[in-house]
Amino acid sequence: MVKIIMHGCCGHMGQVISDLVAQDDSAEIVAGIDVTDKGNTTYPVFTNIKECQTEADVLIDFSSAKAADALLEYCTERNLPVVLCTTGLSEEQLAKVEETAKKIPVLKSANMSLGINTLMKLIQDAAKVLATAGFDMEIVEKHHHLKLDAPSGTALALADSLNEAMDNQYHYVYDRSQKREMRDSKEIGISAVRGGTIVGEHEVIFAGTDEVIEFKHTAYSKAIFGKGAIEAAKFLAGKPAGRYDMADVIEG
Ligand SMILES: NC(=O)c1ccc[n+]([C@@H]2O[C@H](COP(=O)([O-])OP(=O)(O)OC[C@H]3O[C@@H](n4cnc5c(N)ncnc54)[C@H](O)[C@@H]3O)[C@@H](O)[C@H]2O)c1
Repeated sequence: MVKIIMHGCCGHMGQVISDLVAQDDSAEIVAGIDVTDKGNTTYPVFTNIKECQTEADVLIDFSSAKAADALLEYCTERNLPVVLCTTGLSEEQLAKVEETAKKIPVLKSANMSLGINTLMKLIQDAAKVLATAGFDMEIVEKHHHLKLDAPSGTALALADSLNEAMDNQYHYVYDRSQKREMRDSKEIGISAVRGGTIVGEHEVIFAGTDEVIEFKHTAYSKAIFGKGAIEAAKFLAGKPAGRYDMADVIEG
């Protein structure tokens, strides 16, 4: 039985994970941490992270980038493996994630779904053929109107996959409104659409001369992220210190 601390337990994803774990015989949430206890959990909730001393095998985080520094310090002090799912971390925080991974197991992924993580591999193969042949690469992402960060962490991770496949020769462009000029061949354009209750759509477009190939992933429910996060937590519990991602979970 894997014992989990749920950080951000009262939020949307915290609740999705609570429901999934309740039906899972091999995992249990032993405590939750959230700045506001909304009374929507069946386990004890701590509103101050320092007060949570419950014994656990792993922590899952779906909260706010503002919480990341204190969370990383807490997990390091307690030698607690952490599955970091919160997006929108600053450059300094991302550097802190890498430092923390030298001391404890850290699995970070901007998107916990099996589909997106498979897409990341597929677009790398496509880029090697198509971008090399001169196709332009663009990403369009769509999310609900409550989302705070733009572009999405997933769109950036997809762009990083494309760039990595092309020996990091590309740069990212988020806004074309300020410059009146043609696109550069070494750019990846990333556009964000916000509206309604869209759970998450990501399109990767390879546009060549007289032909276009599009890869599209649509998330119909947040359960896909919850399932992936629970699988990741089970994978990470008991692992040595290091930086892990969803590819490690998929490959087993
Ligand atoms: N990696 C993925 O696959 C994936 C999928 C969905 C969402 N996310 C990300 O996860 C995060 C949470 O998403 P959500 O939809 O559950 O948001 P949400 O706003 O519904 O929930 C966040 C919860 O965190 C709590 N919180 C805020 N600051 C905190 C702090 N300092 N300490 C402890 N708790 C704090 C809030 O009170 C809230 O209950 C976002 O960054 C989102 O982009 C990632």
